Amino acid sequence: MTSSTSISSLFAWEALDSRGNPTVACEVTLADGSTGAAMAPSGASTGTYEALELRDGGDRFDGKGTRKAVANVNDHLARAVLGLDALDQPGIDRALRAADGTAGLHRLGANAVLSVSIATAIAAAASRRMPLYRYVAESGSTPLLPMPMVNIISGGAHAGRSIDIQDLLAVPVGAQSFSDAIELAWRVRRGTVLEADNRGLNTALIADEGGLGPVLPSNRAALELLDAGIRRAGLMPGEDIAIAIDVAANQFYDPATGRYRFGVEARDLDPTTLIDEVAQWCRDFPIVSIEDVLADQDWDSWISAAQRLADIQLLGDDLFVTDSARLTRGIEDRVANAVLVKPNQTGTLSDAHSVVNQARDAGFATVLSARSGETEDSWLADLAVGWRTGQIKVGSTMRSERTAKWNRLLRIEAELGGAAEFAGRSAVASLSTSPAGTP
Ligand code: PGA
Ligand code: ZN
Repeated sequence: MTSSTSISSLFAWEALDSRGNPTVACEVTLADGSTGAAMAPSGASTGTYEALELRDGGDRFDGKGTRKAVANVNDHLARAVLGLDALDQPGIDRALRAADGTAGLHRLGANAVLSVSIATAIAAAASRRMPLYRYVAESGSTPLLPMPMVNIISGGAHAGRSIDIQDLLAVPVGAQSFSDAIELAWRVRRGTVLEADNRGLNTALIADEGGLGPVLPSNRAALELLDAGIRRAGLMPGEDIAIAIDVAANQFYDPATGRYRFGVEARDLDPTTLIDEVAQWCRDFPIVSIEDVLADQDWDSWISAAQRLADIQLLGDDLFVTDSARLTRGIEDRVANAVLVKPNQTGTLSDAHSVVNQARDAGFATVLSARSGETEDSWLADLAVGWRTGQIKVGSTMRSERTAKWNRLLRIEAELGGAAEFAGRSAVASLSTSPAGTP
């Protein structure tokens, strides 16, 4: 039966992401004329077990074209969802998955599927005349502004491997509101630029997520630079600003030898030595969160890492790839206490949402995350607020694909006024005073 909220048409096209690479964009129109458009983000340091990002191959865009994925939206996915009620997001997402027929969306592409899934939710929210953050929220739940993790220094695949670890981020644990947190992060970035300039380091070039990408002699040197940047900004490390790192260890792991390669330091480390080194960083710097400290194929070492780093938020990104089965195993084996959620790692809004709920039920903290290849879309901000993820990671305080998300959160905070609830420091698993993410 068709209703005013059934999907009447949709079409996709090839757009560009923030790295200038092709991605899939889609617009969905409902019978009542409401529309929603969304673009798929794209990772550079992807996990082994992510859903498939379909690329064309061949010469066009050096193989990165998305015309096949676009055609899959216009053809297979359109046929699967035309006439369905956009208000039934789980039903839409089931139909999208069924049209593909594989668990990892290998036939039609997670980029194709996600663009339809998100665009449908945006159209449905428009039809209900609700902001997206209210539309995606569970009934009875109230909006929650997340604690941001803000990228200050990048390395790895996002900065020409100037250092091995991928992200050093500021967590404004002293902030009382979201807008306060952004201002504190801005000061850290500025302090770190001044400090880097002072040391003769290059600050003109910026990395994929808008962070600095200075060439440094060691990974530890990046932590020292950030710590000095926090102080230079007149802030107190640990009190006002804590540090989060994304080791993104997949990027320098050799599955053949089971060892990790710190290229800038010309050192090969076994998992125990890497964990020892990270534990030493945690003693010397105010680190509250560590993402992908080990590779996604090195599961047993994760168990020892979780024991050694028990008082830190241990965050699984490539480890869990927003996948319910991998998270279930992670909860059972206690390999981490927090999950990074990236909608395009799984492919649909409903699956990403259920991973957030599964994590919360297990007492895990949740961090909603953008990708290194982003777009000017801001729906991620609404998902963080509506789903009450407690934390969000979208890169630096600059570059429009990043500020699109921060600006959306600033607007939501302003819109909510005195009713704006901010997650604050206790959203971080290691600083939590109550079970992570309790609504
Ligand atoms: P990616 O990096 O989007 O390149 O995968 C982001 C991250 O690792 O958190
Ligand atoms: Zn990561």
